[in-house]
Amino acid sequence: MKKNIIVSGIQPSGELHIGNYLGALRNFVKLQEDGYECTFFIADLHSMTIDYDPKEKARQTMNLALDYLAAGLDPEKSTIYVQSQVPVCTELAWIFNTVTPLAELERMTQFKDKSQKHTQNINMGLLDYPVLMAADILIYKATTIPVGQDQFQHVELTRKIARYFNNRFGQTFEEPKEVITPTPKIMSLIDPSKKMSKSHGPKSYIAINDSPEVIENKIKKAVSATTYDEDVYDFYATLLEEFGSAKNQEYFTAQFKDKGIKFSELKKALAEDISEYFRIFREKRAELEENPEQVIDILRRGAEKADIKAQETMREVIKKVGLLN
Ligand code: ADP
Ligand code: TRP
Repeated sequence: MKKNIIVSGIQPSGELHIGNYLGALRNFVKLQEDGYECTFFIADLHSMTIDYDPKEKARQTMNLALDYLAAGLDPEKSTIYVQSQVPVCTELAWIFNTVTPLAELERMTQFKDKSQKHTQNINMGLLDYPVLMAADILIYKATTIPVGQDQFQHVELTRKIARYFNNRFGQTFEEPKEVITPTPKIMSLIDPSKKMSKSHGPKSYIAINDSPEVIENKIKKAVSATTYDEDVYDFYATLLEEFGSAKNQEYFTAQFKDKGIKFSELKKALAEDISEYFRIFREKRAELEENPEQVIDILRRGAEKADIKAQETMREVIKKVGLLN
């Protein structure tokens, strides 16, 4: 059997919320603990395709690094780095640009969505985004890509890019597969018909680094229902299932069955359970935050490790495409 090589990344564009945690970071940690060869990076170059404040970006990148490490990603087990610190990936992306038909990029649903949403800044990077993603993946000859549903189309295009390259220059890349660990979708605190998302503002989500007081406050202000409302009930049932203590799960599940929830009681218990769930995370994160040099060092060494493998692939590519070497 061939070994699974796992690669994935998250963009540094704001705080991670509990939906991102369940949908992405928790799976990363699990894959690492299952013993796979894992590379997890911070996709800062991808995050530049949407308007951003240059004064904020480095801090956002550090914050995501703190989240990665405090959640349990371990530089002894996984390669952890910042995308812009392994620039050879962008070199491979350029070469992939030359084999990728423009029409393939123009039909990506994320490109269409984002160019509709950000009409003032439809930049080339937004269009080219999946090609850089293909380079991030193929440069490590990755086999398995844990991503959310919204990224499936990009992994599919990565397979096509591997094929386009292989057809033009000879067999070089295997086709990777996306994997999704079934995770519940967490809905917005203020509108349980929408998914919890950074883009709906901090009142709509619980950040994994929120303090117990903030969690309590946000949940206090979150949706309630005076009569039975399926969306509201499902919203709390999901949170309870993921973060509730065994005792609270049993107690409130019985209430759910009777459709007779006492929201003030449920909210108080849930806020405490979510705070407790992330307590060790917060402690570790605060400790790391005190030692930014240590984090920067971890990222630098991660980039060095990633670069060794990336350069190896790049040497092969340079030969195959016929550049002077
Ligand atoms: P956001 O909408 O907050 O910007 P992203 O779209 O950047 O989040 O998603 C990053 C990752 O988090 C993806 O893997 C996605 O599947 C997961 N994710 C995002 N929102 C949720 C949610 N509400 N519930 C579960 N997983 C989510
Ligand atoms: N585009 C991904 C996202 O926003 C992040 C990403 C960039 C990625 N390169 C990747 C994910 C390579 C997996 C593999 O979620």
